[in-house]
Amino acid sequence: MLKIEKFLPQHLDEVIEISAEQFGVHGWQADLIKEELQKENHFAFVAVDGGKVLAFVFVMKTFGEKGEDFNILNIATKKGFENRGIATKLLSFLEQYAKTGGIFHLWLEVRENNQNAITFYKNMGFKLDYVRKNYYANGDNALVMSKDIVKD
Ligand SMILES: CC(C)(COP(=O)(O)OP(=O)(O)OC[C@H]1O[C@@H](n2cnc3c(N)ncnc32)[C@H](O)[C@@H]1OP(=O)(O)O)[C@@H](O)C(=O)NCCC(=O)NCCS
Repeated sequence: MLKIEKFLPQHLDEVIEISAEQFGVHGWQADLIKEELQKENHFAFVAVDGGKVLAFVFVMKTFGEKGEDFNILNIATKKGFENRGIATKLLSFLEQYAKTGGIFHLWLEVRENNQNAITFYKNMGFKLDYVRKNYYANGDNALVMSKDIVKD
C-alpha cells in the first residue's frame, strides 16, 4: 500500500535515481538534495510502496501576498510508475498537511513546455498566474501556477 512519509536520509539514493531518470542533467544532484534537507523552512515527502520510493516532493515555506504559503520546488514520480495517481496522492497529502499548519496557498513554477506536469497541476486545481520569461538557464519560460486550498 502506498504511504506518504517524511523524506529521510535513507531515501536519498532512490530520490536521486528518480530525479536523474525524470530530469536528466536538469535533475537535482545529491549535494543539492542533502542541502535542501538542512535548510530552514524546507522539507520533503516521499511516496513509498513496499519499501520502495515511487515519488518525491520538495517544498519550501514562503511568505507571499496571501501570508504563509508552500512553494512546490520539485516533484517527480519514478519512471514507469506515472499516471497511476501517485503524485496526486502526494500533493493531496501536502494539501492536508498545509491545512493542518494553517497554510492555504500553494504555488510553483513549471517549464512552459512540460505539458504532462501542466496538465497534472491543472487537474489538481492549479491556475496560471503569470509567465516568467527566460526563467530557466536555457531560456525557457516558466509558468507560475497556484492554488488556494479550501478551508474545511
Ligand atoms: C508530473 C508528474 C509528477 C505527475 O506524476 P504522476 O504520478 O504521473 O501523476 P498522477 O498519476 O497522479 O496524475 C496523472 C495526471 O497527470 C498527467 N500526466 C502525468 N504524467 C503523464 C504522462 N506521462 N503523460 C500524460 N499525462 C500525464 C495526466 O494529466 C494525468 O491526469 P489524468 O489521469 O486525468 O489523465 C510526473 O509525470 C513526473 O514525474 N514528470 C517528470 C518530472 C516533472 O516534470 N515534474 C514536474 C516539475 S515542475
